[in-house]
Amino acid sequence: MPKNIHPSVFKVNSEHRVKALGQRPKLIWFTGLSGSGKSTLANATEDALYGMGYHTYLLDGDNVRTGLNKDLTFSDKDRVENIRRIGEVANLMLDAGLIVISAFISPFISDRELIRNLVGKDNFLEIYLDCPLEICEERDVKGLYKKARQGLIKDLTGIGSPYEPPLAPFEVVHTAEEKMEDAVARLVEKINKKIKI
Ligand code: PPS
Repeated sequence: MPKNIHPSVFKVNSEHRVKALGQRPKLIWFTGLSGSGKSTLANATEDALYGMGYHTYLLDGDNVRTGLNKDLTFSDKDRVENIRRIGEVANLMLDAGLIVISAFISPFISDRELIRNLVGKDNFLEIYLDCPLEICEERDVKGLYKKARQGLIKDLTGIGSPYEPPLAPFEVVHTAEEKMEDAVARLVEKINKKIKI
């Protein structure tokens, strides 16, 4: 605890919010290479959970790297800070009672472990989008792999910067093999068991 900071005890706490929203807050953490399908799957998963009446929020590059974290680059140090801040934001959202879904490369095991410990092991549902680099590179939706091969991007994950796969994720999706709708149905069934009251 930083010096001279004294946390207050609020009248309305997380238990009240859990009751009011009627759901168990969890952080559903998608991780994988650029082009592995994180945003697509996270989007479809949120859509399905929202359709079931859950209160959700999706954190991804579009709403984080363009705002809160727009000062950060893709150096190792800044990636660590990127994920640390996202973890803190997600933790506040869990305290608010939400089902939080995140879609970040989050390449380092140690950063994902920090978040697991921050939010509590049972609240962290890590989903690994396992897709071979060659397939991500073939898709190259944003043209980043081409630029990396031309030497225009030095630190693209998988080429100039490492990706460390989870050792024991909650679930794995082989996005080059499984149909998106099947994967979402499988994930939602498993997640639903964790979040329903
Ligand atoms: S990280 O590693 O978790 O901090 O990255 P993240 O915040 O998820 O941002 C990844 C998106 O940024 C774009 N981008 C890059 N990714 C990786 N390495 C480099 N050098 C890079 N430069 C830009 C890229 O579009 C990533 O989006 P996704 O959706 O993963 O393709």
